[in-house]
Amino acid sequence: MPSVSARYGAPTIRQPTFALDAPLAGRWHGGDAFRTHLFNALSMMFPLGEASFIDSVREFLPRLEQPSPLRAQVLAFIGQEGAHSRIHARYNARLAQLGFVNRLERWRRWRIDWGRRHLRPLDRLAVTIACEHYAAVLGAATLANPAVLAGADRELALLWGWHAVEETEHKAVAFDVYRACGGGYLRRVLWFFYATALFNFDTTVQVEAMIRRDPTRPRRRDLLRSAWRFYFGPPRMAATLLRGFLAYLRPGFHPWQHDNRAAVQAWLAANGGRIDNKGGAQ
Ligand SMILES: [Fe+2]
Ligand SMILES: [Fe+2]
Repeated sequence: MPSVSARYGAPTIRQPTFALDAPLAGRWHGGDAFRTHLFNALSMMFPLGEASFIDSVREFLPRLEQPSPLRAQVLAFIGQEGAHSRIHARYNARLAQLGFVNRLERWRRWRIDWGRRHLRPLDRLAVTIACEHYAAVLGAATLANPAVLAGADRELALLWGWHAVEETEHKAVAFDVYRACGGGYLRRVLWFFYATALFNFDTTVQVEAMIRRDPTRPRRRDLLRSAWRFYFGPPRMAATLLRGFLAYLRPGFHPWQHDNRAAVQAWLAANGGRIDNKGGAQ
């Protein structure tokens, strides 16, 4: 089955290292408590989510031709998400050392186990492609708009930039597997609503949990003002998320209709040398 992402080549698997201990101990995102906790909360949610994305895509490997460009893409997808999961687990271990708790870990684990037992593989894959779409939307915003990471600690900006690059590189892999294995529009959109609701709920609860454990006790008014600026000020994340939401509802949607390979190339040209690439291309 020909795939659209095959035209873009298999993504590179990298194994960078980051020095996270010192910056995570402070308000690393420009001294801004809300932005720091928002990014840290997202990190808290990644390892479990990424492991379930890998499982849901891997399940379809036996149905893909061997060898085929799409199969090579899936193996690269698994390698990239595995690296994200490992690095964010280290990131989160440091947050735990600092006293922050992963408030939703048990419930999210239960939810994923329930899905594994009760949902069809194609439904689980539909949840994955919905989450991958949000990862791609946030990644695209990070690469295109310097305001997203403005003022951030250099090492953490590098980590989030690297993750944004790889989410872009593999943004259509799970989607192409879904289509190649017979996934249709209605299933895709229904699980997208489910994933949207849970993503927003989980993020809100986890950010709140981070704020409650913040020893500097940031004031509510400052947090709200900062959140408003993030969503409606220069990075305009509210508009970005809304555009991403609406694009996904189009029946003919495909992630590469937004071709942002140039942004990936520009980031790699500027920062590629700072990533310790022990893994190499696959
Ligand atoms: Fe990822
Ligand atoms: Fe991803």
